[in-house]
Amino acid sequence: MNRGKMTAAVLLAMLLTLFVLCACADDIIVSSATLDLDRLPQVQAREDSHILVAYFSTNDTIRAVAMAAADVLEGDLFEIVPAESYSEEDLNYRMPGNRAGEEQRRNARPEIVFLPEHMEQYDTILLGYPIWGGHAPNILYTFLESIGPKHVTILPFCTSNMTGPGTSAVNMQTVTDASVTWLPAERIANHATEDDLRAWAQSLVTKVTDVKESGEMQLKIGDTEVSVVWEDNDAVRELKRMAAEQQLSVEMSMYGGFEQVGPLGVSLPRDDHQITTVSGDIVLYSGNQIVIFYGSNAWAYTRLGHIEDQTPSDMRKLLGDRDVTITLRMDGQ
Ligand SMILES: Cc1cc2nc3c(=O)[nH]c(=O)nc-3n(C[C@H](O)[C@H](O)[C@H](O)COP(=O)(O)O)c2cc1C
Repeated sequence: MNRGKMTAAVLLAMLLTLFVLCACADDIIVSSATLDLDRLPQVQAREDSHILVAYFSTNDTIRAVAMAAADVLEGDLFEIVPAESYSEEDLNYRMPGNRAGEEQRRNARPEIVFLPEHMEQYDTILLGYPIWGGHAPNILYTFLESIGPKHVTILPFCTSNMTGPGTSAVNMQTVTDASVTWLPAERIANHATEDDLRAWAQSLVTKVTDVKESGEMQLKIGDTEVSVVWEDNDAVRELKRMAAEQQLSVEMSMYGGFEQVGPLGVSLPRDDHQITTVSGDIVLYSGNQIVIFYGSNAWAYTRLGHIEDQTPSDMRKLLGDRDVTITLRMDGQ
């Protein structure tokens, strides 16, 4: 072969390789994130975590996002594993009758190998899934229907080649109980870097905290649940955050013939002002004690709230003749 022919053959071979590569690239139906899974920290289950990061992933993209989120949020990681795993053929959405598309068409409920063991411990679920044909894969519905009635907030997140979350989360919402709160779904770009993921997961920390603090805090005096209008201040926000972590019990003691006082065990942000309290007022005294009044007193306190459904004589009955224990808990606990 002379030099000219050789160059032409090499060029042809290069062009052919390029053509084959392009054809293959076009055929890649599932792309994965630019992440090295082995470099992401392994997330351990924690006994006391209130956050579950549940995900379904067939090609590791969502898995990487879920791992970063669980690590940053100190959540438990749970993989939704199908009883029958998906082959490449099953996922080839260009092939008529492919399993992934068929399951969506038939509104199937693909079986899951096992479900999280201690679902009762979680108040927040981050739910990760790939977009399939513009929607969530049907196995997500199997998972969601297993939750039943539960006071939990779901933050859905997805990855896709280019389609946004669309109505994927709104559709999933239809199969969960009314006690479940849904936040709008977020899409994370397939080419997200590890730093992008960590920044995104960090933004969820604030979101999860906001959700917890926006709930209602319930107060029980002994066995009686009372209705409270809580103040909008840093002390109440901190109290709600603590109550969201775990129900708070405070041993109260009668004092002065007009109030009961109990130690919180921690200091809350103070904004003390001289006030004259009335029956039903709840205040913070000295930054670290909660006081509930059935009478009146003038002192510098930080207001926490006011009990609105008990008359002064009801309050006296609740607090006026023995020491009580009060409990504070957030909705759904
Ligand atoms: C069956 C199937 C259907 C898909 N449909 C879409 C789609 O409608 N829009 C899109 O942008 N990407 C689509 N994709 C791509 C995936 O959403 C994307 O690659 C996702 O990041 C995969 O996540 P995973 O690697 O965790 O499984 C589809 C992938 C599969 C397997």
